[in-house]
Amino acid sequence: MSTSSKENTYEIFEDIKKNLNIGVKDRRHGFHTPIFSNIDQQRSIDSRIVVLRKFDSKKMILNFHTDFRSPKVNSLKKNNNSLFVFYDEKLKIQLRIQTASTINNQNHICKEMWENTKLYSRKCYLTKKSPSSITNQPEDGIPKSLKGKEPTKDESEEGYKNFTVIENHIKLIDWLYLSANGHRRLKITFKDINPIFDWLIP
Ligand SMILES: Cc1cc2nc3c(=O)[nH]c(=O)nc-3n(C[C@H](O)[C@H](O)[C@H](O)COP(=O)(O)O)c2cc1C
Repeated sequence: MSTSSKENTYEIFEDIKKNLNIGVKDRRHGFHTPIFSNIDQQRSIDSRIVVLRKFDSKKMILNFHTDFRSPKVNSLKKNNNSLFVFYDEKLKIQLRIQTASTINNQNHICKEMWENTKLYSRKCYLTKKSPSSITNQPEDGIPKSLKGKEPTKDESEEGYKNFTVIENHIKLIDWLYLSANGHRRLKITFKDINPIFDWLIP
């Protein structure tokens, strides 16, 4: 994307969508591992890194996967306001994306993603204790019988009940481009699915 196209709102929007799609597939792209924030049960802010698993550019939805027993699932049930922060060093672009989250567990959305989840990734959902629960020794919580090996497909199916897809519906994108020639910042809000653009002072 040339510097001049950093002044064209529609080109910027297309470029954002293109890079979110690349972020899903390319582990080395900065957009692959955004920070996801929400409000916890104590009404404090909580943030953590997640892996961007899917971007639906038509419906403007960002997906990541988690364990149904994770505290963030209960927090999101209570308050579904959420926020992603992306940064790619090569692009010099930060995206702050406000979203509304919905939780999917044991439904057709999870089924489809679970079928595409590799056995070593399915293993994360096989912990006996819930994620974030206290343990009296340093451990990963995976049953001893699976130590150092991949579960079989049958063994992995035990994790399906914990496998959860968080869908995050985009409400606002705050795009920031850093440049020695002058930073640029654009706010994108949506009326239905149509983008509305406002330039901001960076
Ligand atoms: C590179 C990286 C990728 C991660 N991806 C995910 C993810 O996709 N989903 C997830 O729930 N946790 C992921 N984690 C772990 C979270 O950052 C966090 O430690 C964990 O989910 C517990 O957070 P919680 O207490 O908010 O549930 C990832 C951590 C790192 C470092």
